[in-house]
Amino acid sequence: MEYPISITPQTVRTVTDTKSIPFGKVPTEHMFIAEYRDGQWQNARITPFHDLTLSPMALCLHYGQTVFEGMKAFVMEDSRINIFRIDKHYDRFCKSLDRMCMPRVPKELFTEAMHQLVQLDSKWVPDEADGSLYLRPFMIATEDRIGVKIGEEYLFMIVASPAYQYYANPLKIKVETEFSRAADGGTGTAKCGGNYGGAFYPTQLAKEQGFDQVLWTDSRTHTLIEESGTMNAMFYIDNTLLTPALSGSILDGVTRDSLLAIAREKGMKVEERPISIAELKAAFEAGKRVEAFGAGTAAVIAPIASITIGDKAYDCYVGEDATMFTLKKALYDIRTGVAPDTHKWNYIL
Ligand code: COI
Repeated sequence: MEYPISITPQTVRTVTDTKSIPFGKVPTEHMFIAEYRDGQWQNARITPFHDLTLSPMALCLHYGQTVFEGMKAFVMEDSRINIFRIDKHYDRFCKSLDRMCMPRVPKELFTEAMHQLVQLDSKWVPDEADGSLYLRPFMIATEDRIGVKIGEEYLFMIVASPAYQYYANPLKIKVETEFSRAADGGTGTAKCGGNYGGAFYPTQLAKEQGFDQVLWTDSRTHTLIEESGTMNAMFYIDNTLLTPALSGSILDGVTRDSLLAIAREKGMKVEERPISIAELKAAFEAGKRVEAFGAGTAAVIAPIASITIGDKAYDCYVGEDATMFTLKKALYDIRTGVAPDTHKWNYIL
C-alpha cells in the first residue's frame, strides 16, 4: 500500500449505550488522521480519539478552508457491516476539495482509512432500525499564516458517532425569500463549512418565528425552490417524484441520488427540474395531496408537515402510506441487505 496506515488502539475499550446519544455528540473511541506537507500525504494513522493542537494562525480558522462529508455505516441482516456509497461520497469530497483549492486524498487512502476505522469501532455501529454509525471525513487547512492565501498544509481526518433519527417529528418550514444559502457561481455545490455557518442566522430567525427549518429559494429571484435546511428538497405530487434539478447552488445529495434511482427502478415518474414556489402553491390551492420531505445522509428522509408561503401555512401529507416512506424502506432494505444491491452501493467489510 502506497499510504500505510498505522493503528494504535485504545488499551481499554468502552461499551456504550449508543441509543441515548444525541446526534453527533459522542465520538467513537478512535479517529483517523493524516497530514499533508511538502505536497504529499503522510503519517496516516488511526489513534484513540483526541483533541488537536493547532496554531491560532491556522488558515482554516480565518478563511474557511474546510470541507467535509457525511456518510453512514449500517449493520446488515447477516451482521456484516456496510459503508453505504463510499465511492459517491469520495467523488463529491474531491469536487468540494477542488472548489476550495484543497488537495485531494487518494481514493485508496480514503477507502482504507474508512474501512479500518469502522472495523476497529464496529461495536459502535447500532444494529437497530433507524440506527447507523455516522462517519465524518473532513479536511482543514492548518498552515499558520494570517496572510490570505491557499494553504500548503492540511489535516485529513475521519471521526465517527452513532446516529439515530435526526428529526423526531415532521417539520414545519417556511419559504425563505430574504436570505440565500448559495448564489450562482458560489460554493453551494461544495460541502464546505461556510455554507453551513452562513445558514445559521436565517435558520435562527425562522426558529424564533416557530419554524423548524427554511425552504431555500434561488438567490436571484427567490421564486425557485433549492434546498430545505441542510437537505435536498423533494416532493411527491400527482404521482410524480419531484426535486429541483442540480444547479450551481444545490448540493448533489447522495440520498437524493439514491431515492431518484430507486423511484425510477420502481417505475415511478420522476422529474428533476426547476420547481417554483408558485407551482407548489397552486398544487396546495388545488387541494392536491402534497408530500414534501428533506433528503440527506443524516436525516435520510425528514417528512415536512407544513410549508408556509408568505403568511399562509399549507399542510403536507405525512400519513403512514405516503410514498416517501415506501422509498425510505426501499433504501433501508438495500443498505441492510434485505433487497439486492443492484447498483453496487454497498461496501461490505
Ligand atoms: C448530512 O446529512 O450528512 C449533513 O451533512 C447534514 C448535517 C449533519 C451537516
